[in-house]
Amino acid sequence: MYFCMRIPAGPKLFADALQRWPWPEDCTLPDVSPFTFTLDGGGRHLIQTVLQNRTNSIFAEFGTFMGGAARTWLSNNIGLRYVCVDPWGDDITDYVKSLSNVDWAARAYKTSYLEEIAELLSRYGPLRLVQNNLASFKDRCVLIRGRIPAAYSEMRSAGLVPDIIYIDALKRHEDFVEAHKIFPNAIITGDDWNWGIQADGAYPIRPYVEEIARERNGQIYADRATFVISEPRHELQFDDKWRYMSQSSA
Ligand SMILES: C[S@@+](CC[C@H](N)C(=O)[O-])C[C@H]1O[C@@H](n2cnc3c(N)ncnc32)[C@H](O)[C@@H]1O
Repeated sequence: MYFCMRIPAGPKLFADALQRWPWPEDCTLPDVSPFTFTLDGGGRHLIQTVLQNRTNSIFAEFGTFMGGAARTWLSNNIGLRYVCVDPWGDDITDYVKSLSNVDWAARAYKTSYLEEIAELLSRYGPLRLVQNNLASFKDRCVLIRGRIPAAYSEMRSAGLVPDIIYIDALKRHEDFVEAHKIFPNAIITGDDWNWGIQADGAYPIRPYVEEIARERNGQIYADRATFVISEPRHELQFDDKWRYMSQSSA
């Protein structure tokens, strides 16, 4: 058992967050190697473009799951400070178990790997595995066990205001609109852009993202599952080929 909190130089608000949501002393599992397991539907190079432009920013991922995306972005961006938000409920275990029957997951991961993770989840529960996966980043990562939208308000009340938000949770209107209202200056990004196509060719989250883009005078850039709302004040640069033209403006 050891205690190795190292608070980095940097904005006080992140140091305060590390104290408000502290890591437990026993945040590692001696018999489990940290792993990078993420549900990556493609297009995450757009997020990396944002991160390269915002090298010392605070990034909040709502719907962190096993911390796979967090491990990747924290590894690739050394100045990044990261807020992970998820209820980490038992339903994740059932979900991972079910993935071996889902085409895209079976293409991305061997059944034996999915079974191994499901077994670890049954044994330790999601929170302990995520702590183990992210323990090596604990000087620049906080874990908040919570749910959108209450977690947005909790963070704001604590003064923890992210520069960039990545929404990957329940795909509800309020997930997007509340983020926009509660964090009016954050760059809004997320997953699920190409999720759930309907019989009429519509995609569920696109109207929500378009609504915010309109209110912020922003342009959406998207590739497969990933989107970014790029506002003039944020001065982000994307290749024009990722520019999304909505059906109403095309
Ligand atoms: C699709 S997974 C996220 C995948 C993850 N971002 C990745 O890249 O690997 C969705 C996650 O949302 C979490 N979740 C469910 N309801 C939530 C809520 N109200 N607020 C935040 N997260 C929620 C689930 O526990 C689950 O871990």
